[in-house]
Amino acid sequence: MCGIVGYVGKRPATELLINGLHRLEYRGYDSAGLAFFTASGAIRVIKQAGKVALLEKKLIETTDATERENAHLGIAHTRWATHGLPTEENAHPHTACSGEIALVHNGIIENYASIRKQMESHGCVFSSQTDTEALAHLIGAYYKGDLLAAVSQALKKVEGTYGIAVISVHHPDQIVVARKGSPLVIGVGENETIVASDVSAIVSHTRQVIYLQDGDIALVTLAGPQIFTLDNATVHRPVATIEWEIGAAEKGGFEHFMLKEIFEQPMALQNAIRGRLDMALGTAILSGLNMTPRELATVQRLIIVACGTSLHAGMVGKYLFEALATLPTDPEQAAEFRYCNPILGPNELVVAISQSGETADTLAAVRESIQKGALVAGLCNVVGSTIAREAGRGVYLHAGPEIGVASTKAFTAQVTVLLMLALKLGRCRRLSREDGLWLCQEITAIPSMIEKVLAQSHAIEVIASKYASVSNAFFIGRGILYPTALEGALKLKEISYIHAEGYQAAELKHGPIALLDEHFPVIALLNDLPGKEKTLGNVQECRARKAPVIGIVTEGDHEAEEVCNDVIRIPRTSQYTAPVITAVALQLFAYYVARARGCEIDQPRNLAKSVTVE
Ligand code: F6R
Repeated sequence: MCGIVGYVGKRPATELLINGLHRLEYRGYDSAGLAFFTASGAIRVIKQAGKVALLEKKLIETTDATERENAHLGIAHTRWATHGLPTEENAHPHTACSGEIALVHNGIIENYASIRKQMESHGCVFSSQTDTEALAHLIGAYYKGDLLAAVSQALKKVEGTYGIAVISVHHPDQIVVARKGSPLVIGVGENETIVASDVSAIVSHTRQVIYLQDGDIALVTLAGPQIFTLDNATVHRPVATIEWEIGAAEKGGFEHFMLKEIFEQPMALQNAIRGRLDMALGTAILSGLNMTPRELATVQRLIIVACGTSLHAGMVGKYLFEALATLPTDPEQAAEFRYCNPILGPNELVVAISQSGETADTLAAVRESIQKGALVAGLCNVVGSTIAREAGRGVYLHAGPEIGVASTKAFTAQVTVLLMLALKLGRCRRLSREDGLWLCQEITAIPSMIEKVLAQSHAIEVIASKYASVSNAFFIGRGILYPTALEGALKLKEISYIHAEGYQAAELKHGPIALLDEHFPVIALLNDLPGKEKTLGNVQECRARKAPVIGIVTEGDHEAEEVCNDVIRIPRTSQYTAPVITAVALQLFAYYVARARGCEIDQPRNLAKSVTVE
């Protein structure tokens, strides 16, 4: 989704801004722009539809080196279109007061139409269709010599969400930033301050960061930020240290971030598991939950709120919690949940799953649950993210930064953490110590099982290239593997643009089977687990309609191999760890299909990494 970078310091700002935008490219965007001060004290704005590389080219072609060297303050943006096409006019920064104020904005100004009307009636001329430009003019209208005050006043009139950075020709040493619903982080360096919507644009400059919270506004200079409320009361926010290495946000020799992230799953899951299994008591140690076994034992129902891949992980969670902890569990799409006036109470634990910790719908579901008096726990990957903070309790995934837009290691880490949570909740109920110890061993074995799937990558690539030209595909699975089928289909459609759907294996014959023919492959999850025989029957039904079947089979299972046209072999697992191991094979399949089709794998069209709008 949209990205923001701002810089004030002693180094050439434009170079830092462009590098920062490159670091944010993974979030998904369709145009980019930047604004900086020229030697004469004016604000220069350069914008471009398309990639940051094109913006960089335009910057070099339309400015001279001295101009770039002498600019020490600027703001920049990658835009993911919401209001208006992804054109140069609609790209940020947007300006007001004949270019005296420039603004970049993430989020949505919901009452922009009325602000626009009001500003136009005062003679402001708009040059874009965006909601953001209305805010730029509103700030201009309030400006009376104090930029911070003007931004505060304007934001009080705004409905919606924002993360913004604003500069003014009258304050060439200041950036004013503010947030409500869209993340903003301030990196505090030596004689320089970098602001960004995401730490990946900051980490190569400094590890000392301050996360702004909703309602904060900050006056940023090279000495650092001063943070206030919109009513001008001083606010103190702690300085945090970013723990991960910059290399974690680079490709490390892989062709794509997605492939790197698929291959680093053994390590990512080691990190997710490390120190969390109690091999004496046969339970999990999840201290971030901050709940005693007695408190956990009083939970009567679990509700899981999430979107996309995280929702699929939550759907796997339903099987885990019900089987291991005998806890009724309802996975809910977060946006639907928040608007359905959910029935919640103090004995319900709402688990919000979000890689980014910033997904607007999931965050809103967390707030609604807190409002209704439920206990809320966050399962997030990004440390310090809004959902992690607002939930107040939870479990971090520790999977490391996920840059590829298509989520991979976050899914497997989410399912693994859910399994540990189910173990913990189970041990507070009917799960025996022996069964708990057995599960601890199963969980410990996950990374080495994934290694075995990764070792099949060449074989998977060969099968993927055979099917790369199809237009449709079904993924079928049964029981705990059904959500994995959904996830396999999502991965394929996201990055290869092949129409793919996941179904419960038994559901195909109730309608979707009508579509099958020799050009419509079915990817069948045929792991040697209870229910396999039934799925084999469903596969025969597909074959009878001439559909080619790619089976994900347990190694050595000849019965399953025989009914398939092609097979991907994965190690034998228990049903509880099968979703993780199977998902890795499906991720590789989707990746190699997309690569064979020449798709832009790390930044698929129309998609954004962190969906911070409703
Ligand atoms: C799919 C994908 C999305 C996200 C969804 C939720 O590959 O990445 O479906 O899973 O947008 O994002 P988070 O987990 O950050 O809340």
